[in-house]
Amino acid sequence: MLKFIFLSLLFYNYSLADELNLFTSRHYEGDNMLFNQFTDKTGIKVNVVSGKSKVLEKRILEEGEKSKADILFLADAGALYSSQSKGLFTKLDQKRYNFISKSLRNDYWVGITKRARIVFYNPNVTSVNEIKDITYENLADKKWDKAIAIRQSNNIYNQSLVASILEHNGERKTKKWLNGFVKNFARSPQGNDRAQILMVASGKAKLAVANSYYYSLMLSGIKGDKQKKAAEKVLPHFPNQNGRGTHINISGAGILKFSPNKENALKFLDFLLTEKSQLEFCNNSFEFSVLDNMKSNKIRNNLNDNFKEDHSIDVTVYGKRQKEAYVLMKKAGWN
Ligand SMILES: [Fe+2]
Repeated sequence: MLKFIFLSLLFYNYSLADELNLFTSRHYEGDNMLFNQFTDKTGIKVNVVSGKSKVLEKRILEEGEKSKADILFLADAGALYSSQSKGLFTKLDQKRYNFISKSLRNDYWVGITKRARIVFYNPNVTSVNEIKDITYENLADKKWDKAIAIRQSNNIYNQSLVASILEHNGERKTKKWLNGFVKNFARSPQGNDRAQILMVASGKAKLAVANSYYYSLMLSGIKGDKQKKAAEKVLPHFPNQNGRGTHINISGAGILKFSPNKENALKFLDFLLTEKSQLEFCNNSFEFSVLDNMKSNKIRNNLNDNFKEDHSIDVTVYGKRQKEAYVLMKKAGWN
């Protein structure tokens, strides 16, 4: 009997030692390639569970101690903060991640990739001079009356952007800014980030606000010839270059409190943060690396990554102030 228990314990440990259960809200083909590379290198099988962040969060919460999830990998610091505030993560040893900017991590999760929420324009309609010093704050100016395309207020990227503005400028100024900004919408917000870039390409809007990698994705041709041609008419511009820098967000990951394979989870995070993996993120999903001095493939993504990033506030703040931001957005009439 004892022998049997010992053997089954051995087997139990053995099976745990060789796998990792990854819960992810990301949906890029390139990610799976990377996960396979991790398996080839370590022998650790990666079981991927994909879904929207709220769905994954709910499942992990409901399964509690029985949850087999090891890592939660989410797009947007706000989504990570939401899971953090529900107590889903275990603490990370910050020393292990001190090569990553402090503003992109906290005790519970670490930034894996970076993205910028920026402005796009059509140089045939709007001159570079008109926008070269543009700030997020300027997007509320009367000059841009009915000129801006942006998605809805329920979009987490927008909520994070407004949360950052709230943190920088305070509530009173943000309310005023929102009122002006909403008046400048070219249409009632709808569609995804790429749809906003298409509005600018077709001349229906002068400016679009969208995440940097969507533009690169369109240019790559992965989304079809029509989107590629449209993106070729459009140029990216990074706001607030003369001041605090452009709004930066992350995809990030944390290890779950009841993770059955914590050692494997640590190895996996280390792997995602190697130069080689970071380069894959840059080239496949067109995001920016969280490593300093790591530049993306400029030919493929056509984005200058030598821009000033806003690291003056921690991305954690986006999560902390997102609800507050959303209330103000709705009040200003941002649907
Ligand atoms: Fe996205």
